[in-house]
Amino acid sequence: MLSIDFKNTFKVAKQHGLAQKDLQASKKDLQNLLSDVHSRNQNFYSIVDDTDELKRIAEVASHYKDILHVVVCGIGGSALGTICLQRSLQHLFQEQRKSKKVPQLYILDNIDPTMMVEILDVIDLPKTLFLIVSKSGTTPEPISQYMYFKNLIKKAKLNPEKHILFITDPEKGVLREIHEREGIPMVPHGPVGGRFSVLSSVGLTPATFAGMDTKSLLKGARDMRDLFLSTDAKKNLPFQLARAQYLLEKKGKTINVMMPYAQKLAFMADWYRQLLAESIGKEKTRSGKMVNVGITPVKALGTTDQHSQAQLYNEGPKDKLIMVLAVKNLHKTVPIPMLHKELPELQYMKGASFNKLIDVERIATCNAYTKYDVPNLTIHIDTVDAYHVGALFMLFEASIAFLGEFYNIDAFNQPGVELAKNLTRKNLSRA
Ligand code: PA5
Repeated sequence: MLSIDFKNTFKVAKQHGLAQKDLQASKKDLQNLLSDVHSRNQNFYSIVDDTDELKRIAEVASHYKDILHVVVCGIGGSALGTICLQRSLQHLFQEQRKSKKVPQLYILDNIDPTMMVEILDVIDLPKTLFLIVSKSGTTPEPISQYMYFKNLIKKAKLNPEKHILFITDPEKGVLREIHEREGIPMVPHGPVGGRFSVLSSVGLTPATFAGMDTKSLLKGARDMRDLFLSTDAKKNLPFQLARAQYLLEKKGKTINVMMPYAQKLAFMADWYRQLLAESIGKEKTRSGKMVNVGITPVKALGTTDQHSQAQLYNEGPKDKLIMVLAVKNLHKTVPIPMLHKELPELQYMKGASFNKLIDVERIATCNAYTKYDVPNLTIHIDTVDAYHVGALFMLFEASIAFLGEFYNIDAFNQPGVELAKNLTRKNLSRA
């Protein structure tokens, strides 16, 4: 279903790459590593077993039969997974599509006032549900958006209970308090941190409204989770990936470029950008030693960024690991018609298809990286569907858990983000 090809990391010059043995580990070592991961008491790999969650969410969604637009208000981990789901699993031009069988999803992960006003031009308020997503229930962005839309709902003499749904921590936070006081319905936020929440109610609720195959999503994630818990290093893909990233970072590859060769996976790189940056960018180790570690994620897209970034990757500083995502069956074959038989320059296109062209370009680009001694690996999936997207989410979340252990840092907190949130609250009230 999913495999990782590391061979180009073995082919580049030794000082820039890896040896096959780097990705191996004894059963005992993996057992120890996994027991460290378990000791962090994180739920991102157990929530995927809770298939009843899908039934609970479907029950909630059944109360909103007349809704045509679902506007998700959230930021960071409360939005990026949903954006990735939408862009991966829906029609590429869903918003403009004529025949829509499911409500249109809009995700507002910013507070630019332009966005707050222009969204009103595309939604029909009486037919809109606002999904306010915030684990803490205190983040300025979703809170301000909630108040803005609730005000509009009230002005339109609509009932906020029918047009607003919270996803928030069931134990604490302002949104939970409002839910209790005013009866605005609430779906409990899953017991995971924001950037690990896409496979919890945070991603599953909008995905259910948008008619996505959430069962397969969780199945793909579960299958990858089983590999993550394996003490056989050959099977444990999250381990191999994390090991490659860590060892290469030690060789100066401090930048990881994620480059999907699939338009629908473009936002996987966006989601991953937060996951890697916020989880691994840390000042101190678990024991408080100052280390300032991190890997800088860069998002790219094949083939688009071959014509924008690849020059830098090939000839610029030797500080990058390129992680390509390749899809075996992007679409059924779309041939490129050979219209100009008279032009010899175009004959190389004879018999080609878009499927073949994108594949050949990907392989050629990876070969060029290798020639330039730029380590690159390719993650292969069969197709962009819910199953494989679920597997990718779990692959990356689990590899982050291992990276946290390698660096001996807490991959699950984000003190740097919290500081900025607190300062915003303080400075806004002063202003
Ligand atoms: O990963 C994280 O924890 C953060 O990126 C949060 O998701 C983000 O800051 C939003 O927080 P909240 O869901 O509490 O509004």
